[in-house]
Amino acid sequence: RSVKAFAPATVANVSCGFDILGFPIDAMGDYVEVTRRDRPGLRVVSIEDDGGKLPWEVEKNTCAVAIQAMLESYGKQVGMDIALRKGLPLGSGMGSSAASAVAALVAANRLLGDPFERKDLLPFAIVAEKAACGAGHADNVAPSLLGGFVLIRDYHPLDVIKLHVPKGLYCTLLHPHFELNTSDSRSVLRDSIPLKHSTIQSGNVAGFVSGLYQEDFELISRSMRDVIAEPYRAVLIPGFYEVRESLKAAGALGMGISGSGPTLFALSKGSEQTAAMAKAAEEIYEGIGLGVDVYFSAI
Ligand code: HSE
Repeated sequence: RSVKAFAPATVANVSCGFDILGFPIDAMGDYVEVTRRDRPGLRVVSIEDDGGKLPWEVEKNTCAVAIQAMLESYGKQVGMDIALRKGLPLGSGMGSSAASAVAALVAANRLLGDPFERKDLLPFAIVAEKAACGAGHADNVAPSLLGGFVLIRDYHPLDVIKLHVPKGLYCTLLHPHFELNTSDSRSVLRDSIPLKHSTIQSGNVAGFVSGLYQEDFELISRSMRDVIAEPYRAVLIPGFYEVRESLKAAGALGMGISGSGPTLFALSKGSEQTAAMAKAAEEIYEGIGLGVDVYFSAI
């Protein structure tokens, strides 16, 4: 018997919510098929469309690490073959490792007859994220697994809140053609932040969430500021500030780095501005000799 599952891409951080905010982009994602076999133990039997870059070892492959964590909690070793097909580019900032882990967990859980509720799969996905990039952040796996715009209010214990999203909020993703590993892009961050930055960041995350609930696009726009991660990461992404200016001029509410980058995301009220935003960004990337893919989705 075998089960197939799909898990979507995600935008994490959403500017002001470092490691605590994220939402899915449902149209893109990864596919995992899990097949039961008689001998206990996990095997990665195929990986497609990863350019030969992902590890097949059970201790390193995010799908296998996630399922292994689940089986340990399940208390029985079950034999499973894992086949992964990547729909998402690696090292893109679109939650690629998260989507693989989540699709693997959903498929394996179903294969066992759904002994775990959806939300109870989250800790296993976090174990896989830690294996993939050295940090057990949940702002990609939680929205990919649970759907919707989510807030990780706390990690210990996990407290994940689904947020209201006003109708008409759109996301444009700009994926420049180069890879940035999450571990590298976390290594440039500081361990501590000045008190005044904590004040600015908390004000903005509170403002952003209020904006979602009050359906106040202007408040969402002014809250899209990040003083914790973006200043250190922007230098890793050619054209970042230029793209920001052009997207704002084209009508974006705000923009930032999607997860740990290099993909950039912009939010807009409605979809009329997205063509102009895409065109402006494409011109800048062309000027610096980088190809770019543009995706667009309602949130
Ligand atoms: N919150 C994580 C980070 C997301 O910014 O490192 C990684 O996709």
